[in-house]
Amino acid sequence: MTTLSPHADAGRARRLKASTTSTHDSLDSRIMGARIFASRERYAGFLRVQYRFLRDVDALYARADLAALLPDMPARRRLGLVTRDLADLGMAPPAEALPAADAGMAVPGALGWLYVAEGSTLGAAVLYKLAGKLGLDRDFGARHLAAHPEGVAQHWRDFAAALDAVPLAPEQEGEVVSSARAAFVAVRGYVEQELA
Ligand code: HEM
Repeated sequence: MTTLSPHADAGRARRLKASTTSTHDSLDSRIMGARIFASRERYAGFLRVQYRFLRDVDALYARADLAALLPDMPARRRLGLVTRDLADLGMAPPAEALPAADAGMAVPGALGWLYVAEGSTLGAAVLYKLAGKLGLDRDFGARHLAAHPEGVAQHWRDFAAALDAVPLAPEQEGEVVSSARAAFVAVRGYVEQELA
């Protein structure tokens, strides 16, 4: 007998959320527990985490094959914004490193990494408000956390609908999930290094 998971019939984005919720929640607690809004110095550590993750995925946003499947890809890039956030606080970007995500990876893997990067804009809306307590906003220090003009929820829904619609073979679905998990593992590693 084949047992379907409770989320087997939901869209791909919903299934990804279900497969990564506990990892996400533990990351969320770890970051908030690091008191990243206690001072601009603590917040700068978080910016370095974000920079390193957004650098990992940056080349994916420039790929024509992915841009043909997913909406507004060039405008969704946030590496430039987080670089400016660091500069606002007088910080240089972390040293050059090989991105954890291979720029040429196959589409299913790329979708997993991009799910995590785009989904993180939902959490960013929460963090943006908290950054206000440090005097930071969309013009200084919290540029990469600022919501898209059409609204963070709508911008996310546009992405999630397109993600759901990409045709994949059943065996490729597992690759999407394992890549999303790999993306969360990469972020967790940056947190342990930058917010120790
Ligand atoms: C303290 C830090 C964070 C907080 C407070 C936070 C909070 C949230 C909230 C409120 C949501 C929307 C509600 C929900 O759908 O559950 C969300 C969604 C999400 N966050 Fe975070 N988050 C944080 C960090 C991160 C990080 C660092 C990443 C990855 C780089 C991330 C990835 C995601 C993803 C992928 C979703 C979309 C879930 C979905 O499919 O709907 N979050 N987060």
